[in-house]
Formats: sequence, structure tokens, C-alpha cells
Amino acid sequence: MACVVTAASRAVQAQARSVAASLDLEFISVVDDLDSGVALVIDTDRSWLQRLQGPRLGPVFVDFSSADMLYRRKSGHNEPLGRAMGVKGNKRPRVFDATAGLGRDAFVLADLGCFVALSEQSIPLSYLLDQARDLALLSANDKVSEAANRMKVLWGDSRQRVVEGFDVIYIDPMFPERAKTAAVKKDLATVQALHTDSTVVNDPGDLLMWALAQPVERIVMKRPVKAPALGSAKPSHSIRGKTVRFDVFVKPKRSGA
Ligand SMILES: C[S@@+](CC[C@H](N)C(=O)[O-])C[C@H]1O[C@@H](n2cnc3c(N)ncnc32)[C@H](O)[C@@H]1O
Repeated sequence: MACVVTAASRAVQAQARSVAASLDLEFISVVDDLDSGVALVIDTDRSWLQRLQGPRLGPVFVDFSSADMLYRRKSGHNEPLGRAMGVKGNKRPRVFDATAGLGRDAFVLADLGCFVALSEQSIPLSYLLDQARDLALLSANDKVSEAANRMKVLWGDSRQRVVEGFDVIYIDPMFPERAKTAAVKKDLATVQALHTDSTVVNDPGDLLMWALAQPVERIVMKRPVKAPALGSAKPSHSIRGKTVRFDVFVKPKRSGA
């Protein structure tokens, strides 16, 4: 199994057992001897992921009030992401994030004023996203709580959904990234370790085909800046950042619409 549940301390053992049962994951009281997969570690307030394979990397949190997230909000690094979605003037598209992951891009978009559905196939990640959203709603920082209010977490394979009531589908598939910082490497390695589970799918070409068939105005696909476009569909245009590129597929308006 790619993910087990454990408790951060004796005080939360009962809580951890109940989370494991509700997520249909195995509860293991001591994970020290495990050497593969990931543990969802339940703590009194914020839980986290711990990669079990050696070398053991540090904990991975989903925290929309973290210093990293506040930096991303302020630094303007995200301008290409917003532009790719069609954020302009007063326009705030409703975004279906089909690959929510650690929810970082989704939070940035919610902070820009977009309503964002965070769809994630991994159940431990969905649990952490939900918890992070609930904690962000209580944040003393109004900007963080207002953004959290515009976020909704959905669990499951996005391709099983018909996406109605949204303007944009956003896809950020797993790609071998030349991560710059140790923190990013740790987070990606941990999310990737969740994907050794055979129930988890990662076929970005398939996701793109599904997205193109949905009733939305545009699809945005994140790619490494120099990578070729995915699949046979040609992007309408691309927006380049320093390390990533957003391929934008604008759907032709239906006649009579
Ligand atoms: C690279 S991560 C996304 C990172 C995210 N943009 C962020 O800012 O944290 C890709 C995520 O997409 C999820 N994913 C891949 N295919 C999916 C699908 N068909 N349905 C739902 N989630 C999917 C994976 O489980 C993984 O967590």
C-alpha cells in the first residue's frame, strides 16, 4: 500500500485510527520499520505526509498560511498563472483544478479572487487539502480566510466528472522537474511516492483529452518551459514563466451561444 496512517503521538492514536477507518487506509502504530510508501501522520491540529523510503525526507504539510505561500502571494511569481487562466480587470474565472496536489496553485488562484474546485485523486492528499482549507478559514489573516472561502476540495479521478459551472480546467501533471530547492524536491518526492499505488493514475495526455471534451471556455496545462506540448491538440497560445510554461487551449464559442 502506498499510504498508511499513523499517529504523531499517543495522545492522537484514537483519532488516527478513526481517520484511517474513514479513509479506508491501514493504521500502523509504529512506522519506523517501513521502508516504502508514505505515512499520513495525524496530529492534534495539522497533519502531514512523511515519506518512508530512505533517506527519510522531512514532513510535507499543506498550509495555506505558510511563509512559502505568503511569499508566492506577494512576489508576483504567479502573474503568468493568473494570466493563463484569463484573470484580467474584474474578470475572475471559475477554475476546476483537475490535479490539485498540495493545492499551491489553487490557493494562488483563490487569492487572486477565483473560485477554485480542487480535485485530487489521492485520498491522503484530499484529506490534507480539506484540513488545510478548514484551518485557513480560521486564519487571522483576512486575505487567507477569504481565499479559503473560495476553495472547495473534491476527492476522486477528475476524468470521472462532467465539469459544469466552471470557465477553466487547470492541469498540472507530474513531470520530472529539475527542482531548485531542497524543500521543493522533498515535497515532490513525497507526492511522487504516493503514486506507486496502482489505483493512482497519471496520464496527462488522457486528462487533456477529457478536459477538451468538457463544457468550459479554456484549458490550461502546466509544462516545463522547454518541453514539447502534450498530445495532438495544439495550444492556442502559451504563457512562459522562468521555469514553467502554461499552454492555453481556448475552446471555440458554440454557435448561437
Ligand atoms: C504535480 S501535482 C499538482 C501540484 C499542484 N498544482 C500544486 O500547486 O500543488 C499533480 C497532482 O495531480 C493529481 N492527479 C493526477 N491525475 C489526476 C486525476 N486524473 N484526477 C485527480 N487528480 C489527479 C496527482 O495525484 C497529484 O497529486
